[in-house]
Amino acid sequence: MTDPTKDVTGRSSPSSRTISLPKPRLSSDVSVEEALGARRSIRDFENVPISLADISQLLWAAQGITHFDGLRTAPSAGALYPLEAYAVVGIVSDLRAGVYRYRPDGHELERIAEGDRREQLCYAALSQSAVHNAAVVIVLTAVYERTTGKYGQRGNRYVHMEIGHTAENVCLQAITLGLGTVVIGAFEDHRVKTILNLPREQDPLYLVPIGKSLDNKYEASLPRGVRHSVGVKKRKGAV
Ligand SMILES: Cc1cc2nc3c(=O)[nH]c(=O)nc-3n(C[C@H](O)[C@H](O)[C@H](O)COP(=O)(O)O)c2cc1C
Repeated sequence: MTDPTKDVTGRSSPSSRTISLPKPRLSSDVSVEEALGARRSIRDFENVPISLADISQLLWAAQGITHFDGLRTAPSAGALYPLEAYAVVGIVSDLRAGVYRYRPDGHELERIAEGDRREQLCYAALSQSAVHNAAVVIVLTAVYERTTGKYGQRGNRYVHMEIGHTAENVCLQAITLGLGTVVIGAFEDHRVKTILNLPREQDPLYLVPIGKSLDNKYEASLPRGVRHSVGVKKRKGAV
């Protein structure tokens, strides 16, 4: 397994806490309608890794930059972008278990903490097993002040609308990758904040566990384009 924080000679890259993500792909064989029709909450996952390309695609769907002015995949009131995305990585090919912050600017990850935190996160989420069993859990957080600074109280409403846009982007993107998701709102905020080492002004809003569904019937129900790409990935050894 190659370590993306090391160069070809095995030395650490200039900032070994920074991991470049592969470029997101901008097309697929799955239509928006097919992804909408196939989305279902999945809570039981196979113990198999997903790929770094999958992580790249999912985080890009969440908050990736799609315009030279810095505009992103999800709309944002006043383009103030109050949301942050983290990946609590369990089993991802070519990425060590740990907590990573997504930096939309460079489409890269910043390693925040080492080690598998899924069990702790599961405990913080009232022992919901999906959090423990997922290959990765994307945690969406908000810095309310970025939006309330301009819009006052109403900014709180805007932030909550934005988290919905962003989470749905992740759920639909996951379908195209042959992966299952569930959005989780039930958790203890202070525990999640501690596990992710979040700054004081940042609040967790959603946990999104992601992995390959344990239910073969679910895979069989996925659109034809997805079944094809899952077959290709299986042959290549990821998922
Ligand atoms: C705001 C919100 C919070 C949710 N929190 C949880 C949760 O804590 N645990 C869980 O298993 N599902 C959670 N869900 C998922 C719902 O249970 C699920 O969407 C619903 O049962 C409908 O099923 P479907 O997603 O398969 O259409 C949440 C959904 C929303 C929108």
